[in-house]
Amino acid sequence: MCVPLAEFNQHPILLAPSVLAADFARLGEQARDAEAAGADWLQIDVMDGVFVPSISFGMPVVAALRRAVGLTLDCHLMIVQPERYVADFVKAGANHITVHVEATTHLHRTIQQIKQLGVTAGAALCPATPLGALEEILPYLDLVLLMSVNPGFGGQEYIPTTNDKLTRLRHMLDARGLGHIHIQVDGGVHQSNVAEVVRAGATNIVAGSAIFSAKQTVAQAIQGMRDALASV
Ligand code: DX5
Repeated sequence: MCVPLAEFNQHPILLAPSVLAADFARLGEQARDAEAAGADWLQIDVMDGVFVPSISFGMPVVAALRRAVGLTLDCHLMIVQPERYVADFVKAGANHITVHVEATTHLHRTIQQIKQLGVTAGAALCPATPLGALEEILPYLDLVLLMSVNPGFGGQEYIPTTNDKLTRLRHMLDARGLGHIHIQVDGGVHQSNVAEVVRAGATNIVAGSAIFSAKQTVAQAIQGMRDALASV
């Protein structure tokens, strides 16, 4: 049974640290630090070196993180033909799976497949992919992910036109009575711009280098994001 996303909400705006930016030699420790600091989700960026230039990690790392934390594990599949692996990621411990509309031929079938596995489902758009690509699939989604960088690498600059795309998506959802669908933003979000991103319409924030950086502890970084959001 797919638990409604709302039951996962510990905060009005969900914070999903991306472990792509974590110290892989201390991955479990850093994930526990994020959990202890009040993160809502943990985003796991799966990359295949085909859909995106980088190769990151797969099911064994998801299973290890499942043993390490109780957080919602959010698998962002930046892989071609993700339908081949969604069952394996759920078996490894994923609670939520997002696939790219650009990476699967039969998106409706893939979203159905994810939800039949008892987890929540999201569709992701690369920066140049128009919102229209979501037109027919929206009613079946729990989440839309708008990439605010070109996928494949952490630590990039936020693409400013994402804010306008966010607001248009928010209006699109509200106009169709789909306001419950989470709008997640991923890439280049930091304490300096997170309030603006939420004001534009985001309800779920992915942040990697803003959380797992040498400059602050994970706890300090997460608190900094929460403080930045207090003004929204
Ligand atoms: C890109 C990745 C990154 C990562 C977050 O494919 O999805 O966006 O999660 O990166 P930061 O927060 O470091 O920009």
